[in-house]
Amino acid sequence: EEGRFTVCSVGAGYVGSLTSIILAAQQPNLRVIVCDVNQNLINSWNDQRYPFYEPDLDKQFDIAVNKNKNIKFTTKITEAIQESDAIFICVNTPPKKESREGLGRESDMTYFDMACQTIASMGDPKKHRILIEKSTVPVGTHKRIHNILSQNLANPDDCYTIVSMPEFLAEGVAIQNLLFPDRVVIGTPTDKNGMEAFEVIKGLYTNFDTNFIHVRTASSELGKLFANAMLAQRISSINSMSQLCETVGASVQDLSKIVGSDKRVGPLFLNASPAFGGSCFEKDIQSLVYILESLGQTQQAMYWSQVLYMNQFQKTRLLNMIVQEFQNPTDTILTIFGFAFKKNTSDTRMSPMAFFVYGLIEKGFHVRIHDPQANERGFQIEMEMQGFSIAEKLNFEFCGSDYSKAVKDSNAIIIGTDWDEYITTNYRNMRDQMNNDKALFFDLRSIIDQQAINFLGFEKVFKLGN
Ligand code: NAI
Repeated sequence: EEGRFTVCSVGAGYVGSLTSIILAAQQPNLRVIVCDVNQNLINSWNDQRYPFYEPDLDKQFDIAVNKNKNIKFTTKITEAIQESDAIFICVNTPPKKESREGLGRESDMTYFDMACQTIASMGDPKKHRILIEKSTVPVGTHKRIHNILSQNLANPDDCYTIVSMPEFLAEGVAIQNLLFPDRVVIGTPTDKNGMEAFEVIKGLYTNFDTNFIHVRTASSELGKLFANAMLAQRISSINSMSQLCETVGASVQDLSKIVGSDKRVGPLFLNASPAFGGSCFEKDIQSLVYILESLGQTQQAMYWSQVLYMNQFQKTRLLNMIVQEFQNPTDTILTIFGFAFKKNTSDTRMSPMAFFVYGLIEKGFHVRIHDPQANERGFQIEMEMQGFSIAEKLNFEFCGSDYSKAVKDSNAIIIGTDWDEYITTNYRNMRDQMNNDKALFFDLRSIIDQQAINFLGFEKVFKLGN
């Protein structure tokens, strides 16, 4: 194994594992080590049990693990770093929970700093390594890393070149995104070490058809925050039109078509929804807003806060609309279709549906949750994040992928996630199993054929943005 270029990912979550698996599958001569402090997670990778659902992952995993045999998963982090020429830090960087300043907004760098400390302790001037920040981090983090390294090492620059390489994968299409990235952004120092690091990293991508954007480190760090802010802004913008469409008889899908066919705008990522969710958008905008505020750029901070404000408003508006339709919550069963934060993933982190389930249970409704892939554990974690104690109240049932259990005697279907199967499923059949007297239909993703559903005997069919 000596002499083979070796990379390791610190963090075996979505980003660390998926980027590593794709690198190992595409570059047979590379050695790839994925490490994590979470023993259960490492066990599940080693037992070939995927810790989450991601389309097309199995094929790439099989190539890496069984054909190339160039990847390993381990909890031995120092050993992994020791053996590596390049280290990707892929740990979680959630919003701060505990300190008063920056609460819920500033990125919590605890895990990131811990990883850096471990890496610092392995510094060796005889083996110069590339240290890559792949986690999404506040702009300026390269200086933070340098400080941490300096506390442990006399000459950190002899041991490590610090590089920023943000990850742009989207869950649900992660494998395609990683195989055919729109771009690979590499932020390095402008000195000789930086240039060398850029060339080495480019070498890792020889089998990928992509273009490289080589910039200074701060641009790369900030570019990722801005990218997510811009993507989220598109969703808030289209969402801000949904109620107006409902009021004046326009259709929000038509608006997406009209605006999205302008090449300057582009058609993707313009669907109305109950909100954007997922572990990234909200926290990354919070982080951006926090950075702007701390630098006294209040107007700019307010501008981006509005993206979050609209996101929250849409959820509240739609929840209230549903609640108003029912006089006796305690006698009412509501079925939520989809708890993953979007289609084609089992990820429920920051799912907008957690807000709905919580709000409905609080009002006394009995809630059932259906999802083709999300699991009950993820559901519980999200509900607890909403301040909900699972032990206290039992006024819900998590039905997994069991349609019959989810809709039996129910008074409403609420589509919360845009899974394809919620477009094609047999709603005539569902209606027959639902409450005989009163059943309503709320499509919060604007995906159904309203004409067709209208004929099935629902008292009301609501489609977001018409
Ligand atoms: P995750 O929570 O799935 O995985 C992070 C992993 O890091 C966890 O398994 C955790 O146990 C591990 N970890 C924490 N501290 C560690 C340490 N000191 N040593 C070793 N392992 C440690 O998080 P995810 O979703 O992979 O995100 C990671 C980063 O990538 C975040 O900064 C996120 O913002 C960013 N990102 C996430 C994307 C996504 O779609 N999930 C897309 C692009 C960027």
